Parts: sequence; structure tokens; C-alpha cells
Amino acid sequence: MFGVGTSAYSVEGAWDADSKSMSVWDYITHNQPETIADGKNADVTTDSYHRYLDDIAILKELGVNYYRFSLSWPRILPTGFPDQINEAGVAYYRNLIAALRANNIEPLVTIYHWDMPMNIYELGGYINDSFADWYSDYAAVCFDLFGDDVQLWTTFTEPKQQCSGGYGFGYYFPNVLSEGLLQYVCTHNILRAHAKAYRIYDERFRAKQGGKVGISLDAISYLPASDSPENITAATTRMHFEMGWFANPIFNGDYPEIMKTRIATRSAAEGRSKSRLPEFTDEEKAALNGSADFFALNTFTSSLAAAVEDPPITSPPSQFQDIGVYEYKPDEWENSTIFWLKIAPFGMRPLLNWINDHYNQPQILITENGLPDMTGTLDDHQRVSHIQSYLSYIRDAMEQDGVNVIGYTVWTLMDNFEWTAGFSQKFGLYYTDFDSPNRTRVAKQSAKWYANVCKTKCILED
Ligand code: NOJ
Repeated sequence: MFGVGTSAYSVEGAWDADSKSMSVWDYITHNQPETIADGKNADVTTDSYHRYLDDIAILKELGVNYYRFSLSWPRILPTGFPDQINEAGVAYYRNLIAALRANNIEPLVTIYHWDMPMNIYELGGYINDSFADWYSDYAAVCFDLFGDDVQLWTTFTEPKQQCSGGYGFGYYFPNVLSEGLLQYVCTHNILRAHAKAYRIYDERFRAKQGGKVGISLDAISYLPASDSPENITAATTRMHFEMGWFANPIFNGDYPEIMKTRIATRSAAEGRSKSRLPEFTDEEKAALNGSADFFALNTFTSSLAAAVEDPPITSPPSQFQDIGVYEYKPDEWENSTIFWLKIAPFGMRPLLNWINDHYNQPQILITENGLPDMTGTLDDHQRVSHIQSYLSYIRDAMEQDGVNVIGYTVWTLMDNFEWTAGFSQKFGLYYTDFDSPNRTRVAKQSAKWYANVCKTKCILED
């Protein structure tokens, strides 16, 4: 299957229409515009709340099998809780799903993509233990409202970015720097929330609706800096922290052993009586184990990992030192226009093999992959060769290594709001004319090329 994706806050606009309440992203963009590269907000962005039929038209033009979009929690539940369901918000998603189905495009619905209701945030958000209950109550409402027409779900998008950004390294609101402590708590609660939602689907909806539920996990592909045994171990350790941190509980029932041991040992050396890594109860482990019907992967780049000796104990504790690996992207790898992405598609095949080998040979659905530029040029050959190259490594993993990839999703359908980069980084297959009142979408070269891939299932030359 071939598809494309967006997220609610990036494309919907209509930020306060029809009883929608404020999300943390509305709050940040309105109150802390200095934290957004161009100081802009997504109050209107591509205006998909009003122009979803324009989106359907370009999805048809692309000929994708499915469209990945997310539901806005504060649009569906303005208080954050199911005491009040916003009928207008619900109608928007019902119309979108119906229009997709009428055009033979499968909806792949992400329940939550970063736009937390302010009300939930004010109660502590991810670091309140009750987050699992709040989130799973919301997820149950979504299954109930839309599940008869949805066969593919993901619960969260890139929870690691939420926890590392919000509570680890401080690059997303609320910018708390607590990489060795609260970042682990944030992850723990999101994992509990995911498991709870998955089990609610099992118990109340699966028999009737028969869909599949996953969670989109992001990973950089860490490759050993050389083939020395030390560097190979460094890359493996890094991958357990990068991916195993989330994937191991979901596919194998608990955090990776290496994480548990390293963090426990270091916590003891810091004089703590308990590990900084929280523990799941037996009941939580059982709920987590096997709580994804497919492996949803977001990946955009690779890095090298090399061994270092005895990482120092620091105060406050550092996750970077817990991992104890030196990582870098060599100068000779080509830069993209965004600082965290160097062009290194060759990491895809080992990454897919890692998933296959460590998480029980799952079906893998790639839910995000793509490349930005800063101009939105229609002549985007670099994006074409980037996607083409990723697809060729995916094909190799499928044909030569027996990895079971079931779908590939380009991030993103059209130029839209790119979080702290605002509108300065454009990942779209379509150019969006933000100066035109109807936010005209124009096909780039990559859209035409991808339409051929969707049609022929062949990776054609540009
Ligand atoms: C990750 C996020 O899920 C998505 O929203 C974002 O725009 C892309 N990666 C690109 O940064």
C-alpha cells in the first residue's frame, strides 16, 4: 500500500471554530511565538477543516491506497474529557472519512498527534499518572464514533519526540530539561495509555469493527561507526534506547534488559534506592505485551554510533550518559535544510532488519518518511531521489531479507505547519499557496512521480 500523511494541527486550521478548545500548540504559537522559527501559527494553515474536499481531490490525483490523518482531541472533546462531545468536530471527521471511502481511499487514523487539550496539560499532561485513563477514555470515544468505518488506527505519533522534546532536552513545550528523570516518566505514562487504549479496542470494539491498532514509533537508524565489536555493541545499545525503549514493552512486554540494567546500576551509583526507570506492574506488562497489530515506523535519517569508556555520573542525571555512546552524523553525509536530517537512506534496510529481528517479525507499516526544503519549489528532484532511494532499500529488505513491509507513507501531502519550524520547512508533495484565499494546492514534480509509483508499484526513474 502507498499513502501520504498529515496531522490535525499541521493542516486543519479553524483553531477555535465550532467549540473547539485550545491545544498546547494553539497556546504556544499564540503566547510564545518566539519559539517558532518564523513566529507563525496554524490558525488557518492549509485550512483543511473547510477544504478537505480539496485534499481528497489531490489524494485521488495521487492514487494513494490510504490517507493518514489525525483527530484533534480538543476538537472532539473540548474539555479533554468525554463529558462533552463536540458534534461539529465529529461531523467534520465523519465527512472526511465518508469522502475518503467514497473515493476508495482507506482512512489510517491517528488518534492523537501532539495537540494536547490545554485542560489536560494543566492537569500535568503526560507526567500525571492518570494520563493513561484520560487518553484511553478519549480513544474509546474515537473507536465508538468512527470505528465502524476505520480499519487502521495508530494511537500515538512519535511519543519519543513528545517526551524528549517536552521533558528531556527541552525543544518542545513545556521545555522541561529532565532527560534522566521526567523523560522516563513521560514515556512510561504514554506506554500505559497506549496499552490501555489497545485493550479497550480488544474488549469493546474488535469483534464488531475488526480493525488493526498500532502506534507510530520514530527512530533514527544507528549504524556502527566501524565494524569493531565495540562499535557494533555501541550501535546495538543505542538502538535499544532509541527504539527498544518503546517497542520492547509493546512487542515483548517490558523495557529492554540493557536499559533496565544500565539505569539501575547508574541510579545506585548516584545513591538512589530505586532506579530512575519506572517499573511496569505485572498487569501493565501483560496489557503491553503484544499491544500492536502491526509495527508503525516513522524514520527520516541515520547516525553513526561509537563506543566511549565509562560515561560519567552527572547531576542532574543524563539519559545521554545512561546510553553511554558517542553518536554523530559524518560531515560527508549530505545536509538537508533541517538541522536534524542528514540524507542517509542506507540506514533503512538495517533498521527494518532490526525491527524484524527484535520484535517478532511484525508487519511493518512505514507511517512517515520524507524530506523538507525551504522554498516549496515545484522542481523538487532532491525529494524524488530521496523517496526513491528509501523505497529501494525497503524493497531490498523485503526481497532479500524477508522483512514484511505492508505500506509506505510519505510525509507529507502538502506544505503545512512544521511545528517549531513554522512554515519555514516544507515537506509537501504539493505546494500550498498560503497567499491565495483558498490555499491552492499545486503538484510538485514529486507528486507526479509518486502518483506513478502508486499506479505501477514500481520505483521509476525521475
Ligand atoms: C515527525 C512528526 O510526526 C511530523 O508531524 C513532522 O512534521 C515530521 N516528523 C517532520 O518533522
